[in-house]
Amino acid sequence: MLTLDRKDTPSMIDTTQTAIFVQNLRMSFSKRVGGSLLKPKIEHFPAVDDISFQVNRGEIYGILGPNGSGKSTLIRAISTLLIPDSGVVKIFGLDIKKDEAKIRKMLNRVSVDAAFYKKLSPRENLLYSAGLYGLPQKEAEQKSLDILKRLGLREKAFYEPLEEMSRGMQQKVAIARAFLASPIVVLLDEPTTGLDPKSRRDVQEFVLELRDVHDATIILTTHDMPEAERLCDRIAFIHNGKFVAEGTAAELVAKVGPGKTLEDAFIELTGDDLNSDEEEQ
Ligand SMILES: Nc1ncnc2c1ncn2[C@@H]1O[C@H](COP(=O)(O)OP(=O)(O)OP(=O)(O)O)[C@@H](O)[C@H]1O
Ligand SMILES: [Mg+2]
Repeated sequence: MLTLDRKDTPSMIDTTQTAIFVQNLRMSFSKRVGGSLLKPKIEHFPAVDDISFQVNRGEIYGILGPNGSGKSTLIRAISTLLIPDSGVVKIFGLDIKKDEAKIRKMLNRVSVDAAFYKKLSPRENLLYSAGLYGLPQKEAEQKSLDILKRLGLREKAFYEPLEEMSRGMQQKVAIARAFLASPIVVLLDEPTTGLDPKSRRDVQEFVLELRDVHDATIILTTHDMPEAERLCDRIAFIHNGKFVAEGTAAELVAKVGPGKTLEDAFIELTGDDLNSDEEEQ
């Protein structure tokens, strides 16, 4: 069993409050839609369009949607990396605008775009992060190694440069880094995308353990329907920056009738297909 005991967070959090509270959140970007180089025609479009939801303590809440539907933007806004145009986000009653520093101590995000010092090893990267969190080095080293072994990374890789590791291996290091400081709220943006089936299973079991044993509240985005059904207590479908349905997997399936799957529900409720690609990059 991993040791992910928290020493400071219980006093920081007000457990009577909702773990994650999001109300009327809006976040728009601008893009050039024509005009000339000197006089570009710029349009603002909402990537997150008036989203409200709540996640209870100890829940795993899934956000499912096609490419470009706003999942990562929503996650980044909740994690204080983006400043929303309007709306409220509270973590255990703390407002992301007023209490950003406190929130950053209790929350962490894992995404596929994790930045590392690629010439350095996972050990060196993780010890550097541990230093930023103010964690004792020896304890952090043991904990990183425990998590990485738990995720199926061979010990030798712990000491080798990250640039020599596959994307899936780097993803595991990103997951280990996110859990070093034992966050009470974890935002997992496609944590299993690109992982082989065994690694995916290892990560999924780790996520369940974080909820069940370590009292974490988790938001998870995924394109994998079986994963959403296996892990998520509740799921929201997002489409064009809006939540179009929310409920347990069974409730979402029931909305579209007997004999249907979660993927059927997604397609019927959003009028879209998970493999469609709306991203313009
Ligand atoms: N930094 C940015 N500047 C401008 N537009 C952006 C930026 N980040 C995201 N967008 C746009 O916002 C929309 C939502 O993007 P987002 O990355 O949140 O989607 P997503 O649901 O996470 O997609 P995917 O499944 O591909 O990860 C897209 O139209 C995208 O092009
Ligand atoms: Mg994304």
